[in-house]
Amino acid sequence: MFGKNKARNYVSGPRELIVEKKPKSPVSEQFRTVRTNIMYSNIDTEIKTVLVTSATPGAGKSTTAANLAVAYAQSGKKTLLMDADLRRPTTHYTFEVTNQRGLSTVIVNDVPVENIVRETEIENLDIVSSGPIPPNPSELLSSKKMTHLLKTFSMHYDMVIIDSPPLLAVTDAQVLSKITDGTVLVTNVAENNRDKLREAKDLLNKADANILGVVMNNKKMNTKKDDYYYYYGSE
Ligand SMILES: Nc1ncnc2c1ncn2[C@@H]1O[C@H](COP(=O)(O)OP(=O)(O)OP(=O)(O)O)[C@@H](O)[C@H]1O
Ligand SMILES: [Mg+2]
Repeated sequence: MFGKNKARNYVSGPRELIVEKKPKSPVSEQFRTVRTNIMYSNIDTEIKTVLVTSATPGAGKSTTAANLAVAYAQSGKKTLLMDADLRRPTTHYTFEVTNQRGLSTVIVNDVPVENIVRETEIENLDIVSSGPIPPNPSELLSSKKMTHLLKTFSMHYDMVIIDSPPLLAVTDAQVLSKITDGTVLVTNVAENNRDKLREAKDLLNKADANILGVVMNNKKMNTKKDDYYYYYGSE
């Protein structure tokens, strides 16, 4: 679509895209089920922009967002994966592209969107990485420019999937949930913290978000929490 700059070597990246690599696996089938469920969740209004978020860090947002985007692309829909986690972005790692320009660049500077959209080797899938991490992510994401950008993208793509920081850490995802058609909450089954999930849901309701559903991620590995506090604890 917009993208002229190809993302390279995504398959050998440190973050494996299972839907791309093993499309017949049960996990890939689950991502396709999420895709179908999103389609059926709102019959009357077309869902074109979907925010992927979670209550707490490390739940599997980025993994879900990226694989869901691949699942959409594979179904023939022109898809954009946008990394709106301007604090701990990972899309540029997954697709092995540089992150010198991206979402933050286009919001702050007067650069054309063509400069930040990259085609991937996956047919129908373009990406926008976060760009350099700004000092004021929530401000950028709540700007008029961001709203305008999303409108532009939703006109050019069949589906825009947006990765974001966790809801209970910073306001970014809440801000984004106001300007997206629907929100998917990812939760790590192993943690299974219902109180936090409820708190996250309350925040989304306050923002008048359209909650499409919850993705139960069966992540067995434990993540180092201290590491995340470092990234998200600054606001
Ligand atoms: N179901 C799973 N099985 C195994 N590993 C997983 C699973 N889901 C996620 N992971 C791994 O756990 C780590 C965290 O996942 P991911 O980056 O998707 O979470 P996140 O919610 O985006 O985190 P953050 O809050 O830091 O943005 C990654 O290394 C990812 O590869
Ligand atoms: Mg992430």
